[in-house]
Amino acid sequence: MVSKTMQDHSDYTVSIHYDRRLYRQDIAGSKAHAAMLAQQGIIPRDDADAIIVGLSAVQDEIERGDFPWDPALEDLHMNIERRLTDLIGPAGARLHTGRSRNDQIALDMRLYTRAAIDDTIAGLRSVQRALVDLAGQYQEVLMPGYTHLQRAQPVLFAHHMLAYFEMLQRDVGRFTDCAVRMDVLPLGSGALAGVPYPTDRIAVALALEFAEISPNSMDAVADRDFLAEFHAAAAIAMMHISRLSEEIVIWSSREFDFVRLPDEFTTGSSIMPQKRNPDFAEIARGKTGRVYGSLMGILTVLKGLPLTYNRDLQEDKEGFFDTVDTLLSTLSVFADMLPGMKLNTHRVESLASESYMLATDLADYLVGKGVPFRDAHGVMRRLCQHCEADGMSLSDLPIAEYQRFAPQFDDDVYAITAAASVAARDNPGGTAPNRVAEGLARAKSILTST
Ligand code: ARG
Repeated sequence: MVSKTMQDHSDYTVSIHYDRRLYRQDIAGSKAHAAMLAQQGIIPRDDADAIIVGLSAVQDEIERGDFPWDPALEDLHMNIERRLTDLIGPAGARLHTGRSRNDQIALDMRLYTRAAIDDTIAGLRSVQRALVDLAGQYQEVLMPGYTHLQRAQPVLFAHHMLAYFEMLQRDVGRFTDCAVRMDVLPLGSGALAGVPYPTDRIAVALALEFAEISPNSMDAVADRDFLAEFHAAAAIAMMHISRLSEEIVIWSSREFDFVRLPDEFTTGSSIMPQKRNPDFAEIARGKTGRVYGSLMGILTVLKGLPLTYNRDLQEDKEGFFDTVDTLLSTLSVFADMLPGMKLNTHRVESLASESYMLATDLADYLVGKGVPFRDAHGVMRRLCQHCEADGMSLSDLPIAEYQRFAPQFDDDVYAITAAASVAARDNPGGTAPNRVAEGLARAKSILTST
């Protein structure tokens, strides 16, 4: 038997063990609501004052850890309201005037998401900072660039790091968009139809720092688009971190031997003493799966719901909190792990100089001597096959041999090196050192302006 009992179902609908995380948002919303009710003459000013003082006392209790959470009261809202009434008496019973738990929870989730977006953007910025620092530290180091995980063309390591900077920059953009679109106060929508009191929704929006009030009460209590957007942005950001993780796993293998991770971000094996496993990168890659799962979870919860509020919506929380925790902890790990990652510059530079990677440059060289690119490409393909069959590198090939494949080859062909190849890619966005310096300057200015 894995279940406690088959009879008692009373805990099935209870959410207090996870929605208590929203206590600060819930209390802030209630204070703004109570102040507005008094302002509008809907409840007595003295009662509102007592409610606001009482809610601060409740918050203190929660933060001290001695709040009497009661699962029988099901959720956060009922727990806080009951405790408030216990503390301040009948005035507490006026708090829920002109409000429903439906617009209340919609508010709490928006306030929490807004804070989570701020933290996420700060986390993304710290990882970007670490990438920029790595790019600066190894700014002129050459490495092999890959396609199909086959060595393709030499690039600067800094160019590779800045590629991730750009990905995370788009992630910042996605979270920023999400924050702008969700900046709407749902409170005042009541259960679904609005409320029969002369409320001042704009005053509440101002107090809680929302840009707007929701224009449709039915939409406001039923909408969780902002969560779906947060999940989608989180899934994409984790996908980026997962790709970087995969590279770190490959790079730290003995076969590649490109990087050495700091000791505190590797683990040994329980039986193989030589191991330095890149567990943090692997766990990040793995955790990406659960973040994708939660995105699918929220979309699926929402897809069949008739308007307006349905209790299914309570299932928006656990996956969301899990995604927030996973994303923030992953960003924090990467912000701390990357600065300690040491590049094996000797190794990456020697592989970058491997002559086959210059085959494109040699084709371009022939183009420079008047050969059409497609023909030059064919010459180089035959030349590479020839060298490979003889176990030779292109740089060892005598000029007479080169000329058997194309008469345009001359002694200056030996001037084509990895460094020259990189320097030649001097168009905007290319890997030439001055272009990478531009990319680095751009990245730094983005980081200092935010
Ligand atoms: N715990 C609920 C949720 O998370 C709060 C709203 C409950 N509303 C209701 N009518 N039962 O969605």
